[in-house]
Amino acid sequence: MKGVVFTEFLELVEEKFGYATVDHIIERSELSNDGAYTSVGTYDYHDLIRMVVELSQITGSRVPDLVKFFGHHMFHVFTKAYPELLRTTHCTFEFLPHVEKAIHVEMRKLYSDAELPSFRFEYPADNEIVMYYQSTRPFADLAEGLIEACAEHFGEPVRIQREDLAPHDGTQARFAITKL
Ligand code: HEM
Repeated sequence: MKGVVFTEFLELVEEKFGYATVDHIIERSELSNDGAYTSVGTYDYHDLIRMVVELSQITGSRVPDLVKFFGHHMFHVFTKAYPELLRTTHCTFEFLPHVEKAIHVEMRKLYSDAELPSFRFEYPADNEIVMYYQSTRPFADLAEGLIEACAEHFGEPVRIQREDLAPHDGTQARFAITKL
């Protein structure tokens, strides 16, 4: 997983819970590199999961809630880094397919070692889009947070109904997103 995900995670933890908490989770997570991440490096995603589990133990917040919250943060990080994305798409239903068709494709070109999920879409009604998330990594919670932040960004009230698909480990999920 790209280093930017780790550096942003640790920055968010510092901002919300303070540096002592950052120190604490790095110390207790038995990380492969002692927590020294650079945004251009690539690291084992299990390290991120270990840090979230430690953070959950310290804060008492559930792991899925922490990962979703981080997804919100990452949406703002990504769109700040690539502001043109928000100029070319105008709503959630346009933005999400654009991530699969263009944004993640560009990321793969920029970083040959990027590990990205894939999405598939269905359009059951004018006010509903269904997004299937599939990855070799268990980050459906992150996807959910990113989708929520996307809808918030466009000021669109939506209902997101998530169904975890087999093997039920967070690597496959169906999100039915309905405009309210
Ligand atoms: C709401 C829209 C988006 C969703 C749902 C989404 C979903 C995800 C998820 C769940 C991951 C974690 C890896 C995995 O699951 O396998 C990921 C990774 C990533 N995404 Fe997206 N993403 C979105 C938008 C974006 C945007 C706008 C950018 C950049 C402009 C971006 C760039 C990346 C990068 C760089 C990674 C890390 C790749 C790696 O670790 O190797 N994503 N995305």
